[in-house]
Formats: sequence, C-alpha cells, structure tokens
Amino acid sequence: MLYALFFLTNFCADMITQSLAPRKPGPPSETLQIGSVALPNRVFLAPMSGVTDLAFRRIATKQGAGLVVTEMVASQLLVDERREEVRRLEKGCERPFVVQLAGREAKWMAEGARIAVERGADIVDINMGCPAKQVTRGLSGSALMRDLDHALSLIDAVVSAVDVPVTLKMRMGWDHDSLNAPELAFRAEQSGVQMITVHGRTRCQFFKGTADWKFIARVKDAVSVPVIVNGDLRSMDDIYAALRQSGADGAMVGRGCYGRPWFPGAAALALKNGATAVKTPPPEKQKAIVLEHYEAMLEHYDRDFGVRIARKHLGWYVERSAHTIEDAKYWRARLCREENPNQIRQALCEFYDQSTEVAA
Ligand SMILES: Cc1cc2nc3c(=O)[nH]c(=O)nc-3n(C[C@H](O)[C@H](O)[C@H](O)COP(=O)(O)O)c2cc1C
Repeated sequence: MLYALFFLTNFCADMITQSLAPRKPGPPSETLQIGSVALPNRVFLAPMSGVTDLAFRRIATKQGAGLVVTEMVASQLLVDERREEVRRLEKGCERPFVVQLAGREAKWMAEGARIAVERGADIVDINMGCPAKQVTRGLSGSALMRDLDHALSLIDAVVSAVDVPVTLKMRMGWDHDSLNAPELAFRAEQSGVQMITVHGRTRCQFFKGTADWKFIARVKDAVSVPVIVNGDLRSMDDIYAALRQSGADGAMVGRGCYGRPWFPGAAALALKNGATAVKTPPPEKQKAIVLEHYEAMLEHYDRDFGVRIARKHLGWYVERSAHTIEDAKYWRARLCREENPNQIRQALCEFYDQSTEVAA
C-alpha cells in the first residue's frame, strides 16, 4: 500500500518534470558512506566470477578502486564448505572486504552471511543480477526479480543475520515487461539494505544491447540510500554520462577493467580532478603491476592452476597494450602456450620493455 502510494505520487511527478528538469548533478563529494563504512571514492570494481578473484582485487585496490567485491559465492555451497566457495571467500588487502552471496533460500543466505562475517566481511552484498541459466534455473540471481516477496524474504534473512551493512546488486528487471528494479530497491531499503547497484539491462538481455543508464534514475528516485550505476562503462565519457543520466552516487566498472585493473582508481582520480580521460600508467609501471598480478595468481591458486587462470588476464593485458593486432596475436600466443612461470615472467618483461622503447 505504502509502496503503491509512493509510486503513484512519483509517477505523476515524473510525468510533469521528466523533460523539463535536468538530472541531478553527479557526485557531490569524493567519498561515499555505506552505513558505518566509509569509502575513499565512488568508482568501484564490479564482481565478476572467474575474473575478480583475490589476486585481481588486490591489484585494483592498490591502484585506488573505491570498492571491490568478491566473486559471487553460492550460499548453500559455502555452508557445505565447498573448496571453490571457501577460496572465493579469502580476504585480501581490501578494506572494506565485501562478500557477494547468491542463493534462493533464506536459511542458506543467512548462514552464508554469518560465515562471511566470521571470515572478515565488512559488507555483505546480495546478488539479484546474475543472468546465467545455471543460476536462474535454481531460482537465484536475477530470477529473484520475478518474485519480489521471495526476494525480500532473503534480504530480511541476511539483514537480520549480520550486524554489517547489507547491499544489493540487481538488473532493471527480468525483461522489459517487468522493469521492477525501482520497486525492489524501495522495498529493499525498507528492509535495511544500505546501497543498491543496478546493471542497466534486463535479465533477458544478458549482455546484449546497451546499458540504460537513464532508467537507473528511477531507482535513484525511489530510495535514499546510495545508488550505483553499472553497465558498459569503459571511458571517462561513459562515466560522466552515466552519472549524469542516472543521478547515481557512484559508478561500478566490470569488463572495462579487463587488462587494466588500474581503471577504477584512475577514473576516481579523473572524476576528482574533472579530467576528461584517465591517466594510463606508463609501460614500466604496467610491467610492475602485471608482474605483481601474476605472482598473486600463482600464490592464490596452486602453481599449475594459477598458470592456466593467468592466461586470460595476460591475453587482455597484451591486447590493451600491443601496438598492432599482429603484435597482440604474437604475444598472446607466446604467453598463453608457455607453461613455465619463469619463461612467462621473462616474456612479460620483454613485452613491456619493447613498449617502453617504442614510447620513448
Ligand atoms: C565474466 C563475468 C562474470 C560476472 N560475475 C558476476 C558475479 O559474480 N556477481 C555479479 O553480481 N555480477 C557478475 N557479473 C556482472 C558484472 O558485475 C556487471 O554487472 C556486468 O558485467 C555489467 O557491467 P560491465 O558492462 O561494466 O561489465 C559478471 C560479469 C561478467 C562479464
């Protein structure tokens, strides 16, 4: 009832002001508060399973990301102490340590949240955005947006289970006939959720089309907790446009960080200075970052698995920095075929030394 009234009022107000008023300006200050937790800036690294493991988060944090989030942890598997879920819960140097939980049953979500906090989580994030069929078939991730009462029961369970702030990540809705993110956000805030991130696509879009940053303004209007815009942010132009169109309090970058874990930190700095582009680290500094990332991956996984996991990252790094497509192909093949970490370290040094010579 309260919600219906809220939306009726908002809808009428929207109709009157939509084309007249400019969107609220971007972030009023650099920092952002999530409940009791203060963040240094407003550009975050998105959680990405298979990408933002402890090694990647460590580098992104050191390069200045305002917030990083673990890969999605399946709550029931965590309670069962499955190896992969336990590994995903390993804490690195990040402060705050944000653990993202997925699941479909309140009791597992609550128990998973308690375990996350025992292992050091400063914030628990709930995943209601994952579109993958193996997740939505189990009625987790974005499938929860099809049944808001059930979604709210999970949120209530997590908020009651832990003392740390609880945040929520979602899409715009299941499909364009059910764009219920504003309603979910409103109800989540009533239940105690303290920040909401919206990927500006529906579940049925998966990753197709383009993210609708303007839609996120409707979520921003529905709540008073911070709202974060996500989807297709690859440049400062994108970040400025997304913040302007959505009125969001911060921006979260996912695939735009492939091969450049420094991007959120560099973007936060650019935002602070009103710069139109991020400063890319020079090749010498990139070499140091990539070598550190490589060592962190070998340390986090056992050596052979680490060598395999590292391949996609090394491929992205060379794609970003190579001077020609041919050059990228050569270095990707060389780095990804090699099994011996010493040879890989050597090849990485050669790759970046060559780039330094070209840059000089
Ligand atoms: C490989 C991959 C894995 C992802 N894993 C997760 C995840 O574990 N949890 C989550 O909330 N979102 C996940 N996402 C979604 C991203 O967090 C983000 O919402 C989406 O990629 C849109 O942002 P972008 O256009 O900046 O990449 C994943 C996306 C990708 C590409």
